Amino acid sequence: MKILVTGGVGFIGSHTVVELQEKGHDVVIIDNLSNSSEGVLKGIVAITGIVPEFVKLDLRDKADVSAFFETHEIDGVIHFAASKAVGESVDNPLLYYENNISTLIYVLQELEKHQISNFIFSSSCTVYGQADELPITENALVKKAASPYGNTKQVGEEIIKDVCHISKQLNAIALRYFNPIGAHPSAEIGELPLGIPQNLVPYIMQTGIGVREELSVFGGDYPTKDGTCVRDYIHVVDLAKAHVVAMERLLDSENSENFETFNIGTGKGSTVLEVIESFERVTNTVLNYKIVPRRAGDVTAAYADTTKVKSELGWSAQSSLDEAIKSA
Ligand code: UFG
Repeated sequence: MKILVTGGVGFIGSHTVVELQEKGHDVVIIDNLSNSSEGVLKGIVAITGIVPEFVKLDLRDKADVSAFFETHEIDGVIHFAASKAVGESVDNPLLYYENNISTLIYVLQELEKHQISNFIFSSSCTVYGQADELPITENALVKKAASPYGNTKQVGEEIIKDVCHISKQLNAIALRYFNPIGAHPSAEIGELPLGIPQNLVPYIMQTGIGVREELSVFGGDYPTKDGTCVRDYIHVVDLAKAHVVAMERLLDSENSENFETFNIGTGKGSTVLEVIESFERVTNTVLNYKIVPRRAGDVTAAYADTTKVKSELGWSAQSSLDEAIKSA
């Protein structure tokens, strides 16, 4: 089976390519390398011994996307390629709507044209905003998104749902990730953001090795056990495996419904200070950090109810926070 992985050179994409190859799937990657580097492909080969086909292509170029599908026979698509910095999306909404929505439409048009049935969409727990109840189930109310980035994930899911509704052939799954962290145990691939990290764990790592001077902890006055925000941090390898299981469900379409959503998290919430403690414990070092005012747009707490994904996909996260931090 040939699986197209868009954004397959990125953080989650590259780990998913490895897991797909290890399960015997043939992978072709599309990436424009806007937030990743081609060296990641060498890491993939070092782990699996298999060279994935790589096509450097910008999904915003509709003609190139069409040409790709004309020349490749694809059985399923995992669509990671997107921009993901919340703050940047507030400053440049059109960039986000173009990068995340136009490209999704172009890919879906090609699926329709070429009768490709199996589609997995990278969604996010950001679709829930600050949920009324914790842990968050897939049925939680989807509230107005706090950022254009979050809106692209909400609208993206709606677009796919509408297409599935009228399509005779398309089956799709949206995976709503909580907070992916960590790296492949080989350390051949990992999270390597270009520029200053926006997310907590890469920022902690760069502070730990002295690339950054000090971590700013955004907000110490939230109504949580230690005053810092709570998130559900999931090891990226566990997350990657969820994609393989979801794709196999689609390929074996007797099991799948037309459009489904699943939470992909551990079910356990950790505060920012607990993540720092984990880092200090597993590396036996002291992290330089200070508590600063809250960051705009952060919700107080988010962690997953994983009942549905366990029962329907038979998937659950295996790694602890310490294991994920150690791998990072
Ligand atoms: N945080 C800090 N200091 C930092 C960075 C983050 O204290 O330097 C805190 C945040 O305030 C938050 C927690 O660490 O409480 C996690 O923040 P991240 O930026 O790592 O992740 P978010 O929970 O903000 O998640 C966001 C989006 C997700 C998206 C993810 C990765 O909501 O949809 O970023 O891009 F998937």
